[in-house]
Amino acid sequence: MKSLEMKTFEVNGRQGNSLIHVGDTLANVSTHIPDGTIPVIITDENIKRLYGGKFPEGPVITIGTGEKNKTLATVEYILRELVELGCDRSSFILGIGGGIVCDIVGFAASIFLRGVRFGFVSTSLLSQVDASVGGKNGVNLDAFKNMVGVFNQPEFVICDIDMLATLPEAEISNGLAEIVKHGLIKDIRLLDFIDANREKALSLDRDTVFRLVADSVSIKSRVVQADEREAGERRKLNFGHTIGHAIEKLDQSGHGRAVAAGMVAAARFSEKKGFINRDAVDRVTDLILGLNLPVSIPFPVEEIVAAASRDKKKMGKDVFFVFLDSLGCARVDKISYDEMNDFIRNDLY
Ligand code: GLY
Repeated sequence: MKSLEMKTFEVNGRQGNSLIHVGDTLANVSTHIPDGTIPVIITDENIKRLYGGKFPEGPVITIGTGEKNKTLATVEYILRELVELGCDRSSFILGIGGGIVCDIVGFAASIFLRGVRFGFVSTSLLSQVDASVGGKNGVNLDAFKNMVGVFNQPEFVICDIDMLATLPEAEISNGLAEIVKHGLIKDIRLLDFIDANREKALSLDRDTVFRLVADSVSIKSRVVQADEREAGERRKLNFGHTIGHAIEKLDQSGHGRAVAAGMVAAARFSEKKGFINRDAVDRVTDLILGLNLPVSIPFPVEEIVAAASRDKKKMGKDVFFVFLDSLGCARVDKISYDEMNDFIRNDLY
């Protein structure tokens, strides 16, 4: 029988509060929308095909699927549609979709008429545990991920666990990677739980997934609460992402897969720096392998170094690299790209 458990987490952002409801449902979304308001719904083709019949009343703007649509051109398309619909400052925008939809919709809502109210129904595991939570909204610019955007919290995020049932298998693993990340940087008990429940997690056992999403949102919302604008603590959420983003530029098979290999690389870098021992690295590797995620990088070393260095333009010659001090505890050190590249060239392959 379907469990009706639900947990709500809160982030008090600079521009407003955000309530994240884990276990709430698309069917219940109207109760979170301001009384008497018909929302403008923004979704992608996939979600509209699968769930369009269950959307609340309201006009629907549909965008394409995939990272290639996470552009200013898509934002412009949305803004024109909002004008066409006669939207004004009292409009409410509801994004229904995964991370890409939420990132784009949050950005469009934040800049339309200098900002209108918005909320999300988050439909993928990756977006429920990461992208839709925390108020980072934006798009890519050319090869640079998330180069243009704003911090602005959605009024609510619904993490509807039952909507995960239509996800392709690869998308489940992609989401599990970010859950492992939360355990590695903040909570060894979450890692123990994943270890003990791998098969249930992979087969989307509802109670198991509920716990994984709730624990992840709990960790992420606390980190964001402490440092919404990523001046310190929030950088820990980038564990595995520096090398992971380089992999993702070369391999479009999924953010979580790239981050998984990036986390193993970061764990090995942590070992090289003397922060953790080989046993800890082996545990990270086994955990990730057990979730059908990659632990090595299938590209020539110089391609990875070049892809990683392309992010350099953002930061100059240094990078805030996230290491592990132990399993369940991260540390952030500013290092030079040269040091990171030396590690990639001499120790990673
Ligand atoms: N995905 C990392 C963050 O929200 O800060």
